[in-house]
Amino acid sequence: RRRVLSGIQPTADSFHLGNYLGAVRNWVELQDEFDAFYFIPDLHAITVPQDPKELRRRTRVAAAQLLAVGIDPEKSTLFVQSQVPEHAQLAWVLNCITGFGEAARMTQFKDKSAKQGRDHTSVGLFTYPILQAADILLYRPNLVPVGEDQRQHLELTRDLAQRFNTRFKKTFVVPDAHIIKGTAKIFDLQDPTAKMSKSSSNPAGIVNILDDPKVSAKKIRSAVTDNERDIVFDPENKAGVSNLLVIQSALSGVSIDDLVAGYAGKGYGDLKSDTADVLTEFVVPLRERMDGFMADVAELDRILASGADRAREVASRTLAQVYDRVGFLPPG
Ligand code: TYM
Repeated sequence: RRRVLSGIQPTADSFHLGNYLGAVRNWVELQDEFDAFYFIPDLHAITVPQDPKELRRRTRVAAAQLLAVGIDPEKSTLFVQSQVPEHAQLAWVLNCITGFGEAARMTQFKDKSAKQGRDHTSVGLFTYPILQAADILLYRPNLVPVGEDQRQHLELTRDLAQRFNTRFKKTFVVPDAHIIKGTAKIFDLQDPTAKMSKSSSNPAGIVNILDDPKVSAKKIRSAVTDNERDIVFDPENKAGVSNLLVIQSALSGVSIDDLVAGYAGKGYGDLKSDTADVLTEFVVPLRERMDGFMADVAELDRILASGADRAREVASRTLAQVYDRVGFLPPG
């Protein structure tokens, strides 16, 4: 069976609509057709300072959210990155075949390090995309379902896979990014030219899927639009309106064209209140399922431990081949 792999960081109390519509929702669909590996990259999370207690809690919250949105641990291998030591081990080898300049060109690193200043930027943040390449290549997936902001990291992953394969011996599958066009970039409600981002958006611009739906409805009603009146889909010139159409369409399953046709003669207030309603319908049962998973942390940890076992079976085989091919002695 063809394989997919993807990950989401445990760096917030909730996934936001960008995470959900850009990535996680597609993971749920893909698990029926593919051999799926989904994980929580806690090693990536500590590239910026994290409070240890919060990190542990958020890791469980992320896992519970994946279960609550429909990741089925019987179909998918769901695990936490730090419980599979092969990720860090392969990352070291890949660090050693990555050029310094190549890593320095990563735009996410450039943006974040510019914002934080050099002295507050860890070396871990610099090598972050190489660890991400290790996450992926260990499992030899065909597809990696992610949002648009991960495209450059996927390109680096492909380059490293090809480089290792030519320098040593064909070892890695060169994976394709799987970026769903319509929802690959969900925008900040307050600044609809910027992506919705847990690290850089103003809280009013982010819709967290676990928040009280009344709070989210209010954010949607206050979303920035424009001074016109017509509801048309035009991401270039009407970014705010178009973003709301994308969100409503994705959550309701009604096409953007049909939504636009239905809004003839109506105003932005209608668009906003309908979008808030559709979101509420999604969020209410999700929050209930979430409470169920968080009520039994022992069971949650058991699911993750068994996922890590399954992941290690695959990861350890790949790592053993890599170690052999670069010239390390066999395990003593
Ligand atoms: P992370 O945790 O920032 O985001 C998880 C997923 O959500 C997508 N995403 C968005 N999609 C659409 N619109 C947005 N506004 C938006 N914001 C975020 C991201 O593209 C991502 O797919 N580096 C990764 C985590 C990672 C990973 C991996 C992913 C580590 N190792 C291996 C895939 C494979 C990240 O920080 O995602």
